[in-house]
Amino acid sequence: MSDSRPVGVFDSGVGGLSVLREIRALLPGENLLYCADSGHAPYGEKPQALIEARSLEICDFLLDQGAKALVIACNTATAAAANAIRARWPWLPVIGVEPAVKPATAATHKGVVGVLATTGTLESARFAALLDRFGHGVQVITQPGTGLVDLIEQGEFDGPRLRGLLTQHLAPMREAGADTVVLGCTHYIFLRPLIAELLGPAVALIDTGAAVARQLQRQLEAADLTAAVEQGGERFFCSGDVGRVAAAIRVLWGPAAAPEPLPPSCCFATSKQP
Ligand code: DGL
Repeated sequence: MSDSRPVGVFDSGVGGLSVLREIRALLPGENLLYCADSGHAPYGEKPQALIEARSLEICDFLLDQGAKALVIACNTATAAAANAIRARWPWLPVIGVEPAVKPATAATHKGVVGVLATTGTLESARFAALLDRFGHGVQVITQPGTGLVDLIEQGEFDGPRLRGLLTQHLAPMREAGADTVVLGCTHYIFLRPLIAELLGPAVALIDTGAAVARQLQRQLEAADLTAAVEQGGERFFCSGDVGRVAAAIRVLWGPAAAPEPLPPSCCFATSKQP
């Protein structure tokens, strides 16, 4: 059986494209919908209830577009909304993203791990549970990457402002001697070259994009939902300033990517934004 319905993927903005590219590499035949909620980014500094409401609205939209499975390509939204999404659509494959604490604590030689993630992720019950399960016997230095997502959403991937912020954020883990650092926000994957340069070659950087793609593949196969075509396509949607988001998506995905604006019906939580 072949199921050509799309997989719906979303993030607070363009960060989830780092997960989308892993999905595209592993599953070339799948049709993919990507929704960047850039009009509400960053999620990392917003109340959990707002992120949950936005995530449910976006999932509703993606399901209206025919999605057969959902990928929450955002650590912050997974922490805030994965339970609500799974409760509302219990029959649907829903794959979330969590900071790679387990592989990082297994990989460290010095017993010191850094986690760079959003405030929302680091303060969540899900992250506390991860630390509880896998953080024993290892020193885990957590650091909110405040300000980084704003710059990435503006299309900035290098430059003095970004370098200054990163140097500041990475200092505590450098000083503690971390040899393994978790990139716990899908936006930060696009800063990997810069972070690698600032931390040096002795520090391993870990993320979960490829693992999420493999998990999606397993779930699609288990539910007999895989597409059998040779090359699937992508459609992009966004909230916020479409021209600005389009420019960032073209840099990160390719010149042919052209996001369509989300319909006003998918913008109800906007009015509740603080
Ligand atoms: N890309 C998201 C994450 O993985 C959220 C970034 C944000 O909007 O703060 O957490």
